[in-house]
Amino acid sequence: MRILALQGSPRPNGNTQAVLDIVLASARQAGAETEIIQLIELENLKGCMECLACDKNLDEPACAVDDDMLAILEKAIKADIIVWATPVFCWAPSWLLKMAMDRFYCMFKFDQSGDYKCLLAGRKMAAVISAGGAENDGADSIQETCRRMAQFAEAQWLGAFVASKVTDPDSIRADTALVERAGAFGRRLAAQGTV
Ligand SMILES: Cc1cc2nc3c(=O)[nH]c(=O)nc-3n(C[C@H](O)[C@H](O)[C@H](O)COP(=O)(O)O)c2cc1C
Repeated sequence: MRILALQGSPRPNGNTQAVLDIVLASARQAGAETEIIQLIELENLKGCMECLACDKNLDEPACAVDDDMLAILEKAIKADIIVWATPVFCWAPSWLLKMAMDRFYCMFKFDQSGDYKCLLAGRKMAAVISAGGAENDGADSIQETCRRMAQFAEAQWLGAFVASKVTDPDSIRADTALVERAGAFGRRLAAQGTV
């Protein structure tokens, strides 16, 4: 059971990371292997250029944007669960996570007869979201974005963990109810089995 988390906060030690750490520590205790990609630490991350080079190869991502995302796309194919982790930025995922997410377009393949397949079919997806506001101040729309991403990727949607009204990482770690909920979510991820 391999869990790959793409962490989209520009603060590598911020609120989202604090919540994700609790979720993944619990998943590891339950037997999962976990890896976090801190998107802010990538030296070279570009957005999708919509060149559609990926459309010409149905068996591989074949993304023509030559940057650090290429290795991450390969890791995603080998993962059992992909976790989208992000703060809420203006009712949406952070710019970093959105850039990375758009690059998954190369996994979506249509052949000449219009038949569709996804290179991530059979995987599972989940989200970990931290928010300054209430759950309906933007975390709700991110959940819907990630759920649709899973649906289009032919992946099973495992749901989202939302830490709402958070202030700082220390308060997150001291909030026993939040830690308990995040731990339970991590255990649930680890219990999902392999693809
Ligand atoms: C540019 C920006 C936009 C934000 N927009 C929202 C928002 O729409 N809704 C919300 O609940 N919180 C919003 N927040 C608060 C963050 O989601 C919250 O502080 C989050 O926990 C930060 O996580 P991080 O420390 O991992 O970056 C915003 C913060 C910033 C900096």
